[in-house]
Order: sequence, then structure tokens, then C-alpha cells
Amino acid sequence: MWTKAIEDAVLKTRANIERFGDLFPHVSGEGVYQMNPNTEWTAGFWSGLLWLSYQYSGDDIFREAARSTVASFQHKLDQNIKLDHHDIGFLYSLSSKAQWILEKDEAARKLTLQAADVLMNRWRAEGQYLQAWGPKGDTQNGGRIIIDCLMNLPLLYWAAEQTRNPHYKDAAIIHADKSKKFLVRGDDSSYHTFYFDPANGDALRGGTHQGYKDGSTWTRGQAWGIYGFALSYRYTKNPLYMETSIRLAKYFINHLPADDVAYWDFDVPVTESTKRDSSASAIANAGILELLEHLDHADPAYATLEESMLRSMKSLVVNYSTIGDPDAQGLLKHGSYSVRGGAAPDDFMIWGDYYYLEALLRLEKGFKGYWYD
Ligand code: GLY
Repeated sequence: MWTKAIEDAVLKTRANIERFGDLFPHVSGEGVYQMNPNTEWTAGFWSGLLWLSYQYSGDDIFREAARSTVASFQHKLDQNIKLDHHDIGFLYSLSSKAQWILEKDEAARKLTLQAADVLMNRWRAEGQYLQAWGPKGDTQNGGRIIIDCLMNLPLLYWAAEQTRNPHYKDAAIIHADKSKKFLVRGDDSSYHTFYFDPANGDALRGGTHQGYKDGSTWTRGQAWGIYGFALSYRYTKNPLYMETSIRLAKYFINHLPADDVAYWDFDVPVTESTKRDSSASAIANAGILELLEHLDHADPAYATLEESMLRSMKSLVVNYSTIGDPDAQGLLKHGSYSVRGGAAPDDFMIWGDYYYLEALLRLEKGFKGYWYD
């Protein structure tokens, strides 16, 4: 089953090379990907899909296309185009860092290290966190962290390893600890975002941006947390990160509907028309696969997590993938970007496609994605 799904995904990625040209896909509308010239937080996922397809197939067409995306990321950095946000980790881990991991290309390593410095510009020394969005001092977002940022920390951990300069890792650890303390709640659910006083870091309140309401659990946020804390564990070996990832994962799987693929928020009232977020399940499944790498097989959580992840992956392949629709641009149907905001509530999400293929390749080939060497 996994091989068939991988072959289908790689074939579609190949067809998309010509379709997309020099542009980058984001989310779809009416089944067609909206494209941009590497200006969205999602551009790295296209690069990552190309690198995964190359790693799987060995076909140079993917390598050439992936290298061309890295050139675009070099240009983006050189010209300082839309880099003032925390998603630098998503962008450069899956593009230039992937190239470094696969080809040991020195220019790609250098570019990735420059990107880590750009991410460090988001560090707010007064409050001791990485500011997600907006410029320093922004009235709305100046004191705000978001759970998604946990997936950007691997870039900093990696930069610390490469340079032996601990300041990247120190910042990542402080940020991860703060995320654990304030974004993860006592019942193992999570806030999407949390506000601090930017002047001194005093904790203010939790909230949401894309979730159903302020106290609800946005499923994609919970998924970012599962994977992000597992990666913080990989880089630091702090058992509290592992424990946190497991808590978030258990909450996620215990709140799934009958078909094992998440609705867009765990607290949204479910009716016939409630939207899913297949991308949240793809991220959670890839994150659980990372988590299982560190968990003893004898641990009582191992079998539960593994069985649930396998059921969910099967459901993604059978009920949500575009297998059987050879002309589809996306790999996974029924993702949602922002249901409450009315943005792509039931569409292809390029990150959903990426994590779906990463999870399939973890299952079938033992690939790991490009979050660490
Ligand atoms: N990181 C943005 C999102 O998940 O929508």
C-alpha cells in the first residue's frame, strides 16, 4: 500500500515540475494550486517534496528542480525578500539544508547557516522568546509565540552543531521550555498562541489565530507540537520534551473521529459539514514516526501510538489521497488552512502533501525528512 502511494506521489510531483515552473505552490482553490514567487511561508515544502522524490527515485529531473528552488532561496536571502517572520526554519530546512544533507554541498550549508542567523533576529532578549510574526515592538504580535515555531527550532539546533556556537541552541531551548510551559495545557491539549509582556516576558494569556476559539485546540497546532517536541528531544535528549511529545500525541489520537483523520479543531462542534484538516494528521503521523524512533518498544505508549499512526496513514491513503485522479495537482484532499478565516477551508495544502510523503517514506524506506543530519 505504501509503495503504491509513494509512486503516485512521486509521479504527481514530476508532473508538477512542469506545471509550476519557477513558482511555488501554497494552497489550492478549485483544485488548482495558488502559486507565488517564493514569498509564502510554505515555499520550502515544494523544495522538500522535490528532494524527497529525488532521494526515492534517484531521477535527476527532481534534483535539478530542487536545486533550482535552492537558488531561489539564495536569491530570497541575498535580497532580503519576506524574511521577517519565524518560518525561516520551514523554508531553509527543506531546501538548502536538505541539499546539504543529501549532497554535502558547501554553498547549501553556508546558505542554511545564514538563514539560521536570520531566524535569530526573531529572538527577543527582553522577553526571552522567538517572536513569530510582525516587527519588533508590534502592538498585536510583539509578545506572541505560536506552537508552529517548534518546527523552526531544528534549524537553530543544527546551526549550533555545525558552528559549535551554543547561542542558537540556547535560544531554541529557552523557547522550547517556554512553549512547553505555556502552550501545552494540563490536560495535554494546547494553545495555538500565547502572549507575553514584550518588555519583561511576563506571561499574559493564551489565544488562537486559526483555531475555533481562544481556548480550543487547533489540530494542526497540536500536530506541530507533537513533531516539534520530538525533534527538540532528538537534539537535546531532554526527557521532558519526549514526555511532552507523547502527551500531545496521545491527546491527538484519543480525539480522532472514526476515520482517524482530524477535524480542523478538536473543540469544533461536529456536523455533516465540519471541515477536516488532513494536513494536521499527516504532520502528526510524521511526528509520531519520529517519536517512535526514540521510544523503547517495551514502553506501553509504543504500540498505541504506532497502531493509531498506521490506521491514520491507511485512512489518508484510502480516503484522502488523490490516487485514482492522475491529473490532480495535490496529493492530499481535505486540508484546511484557516476555516474560521475562510481561507482554503477544504483544499490541497502543500505542507500536507510534504508531510504525507515524508511519513510514507519513513514507513517504507526509513527516510527521515530533512530536520536533522
Ligand atoms: N504555520 C502556519 C500554519 O500551520 O498554518
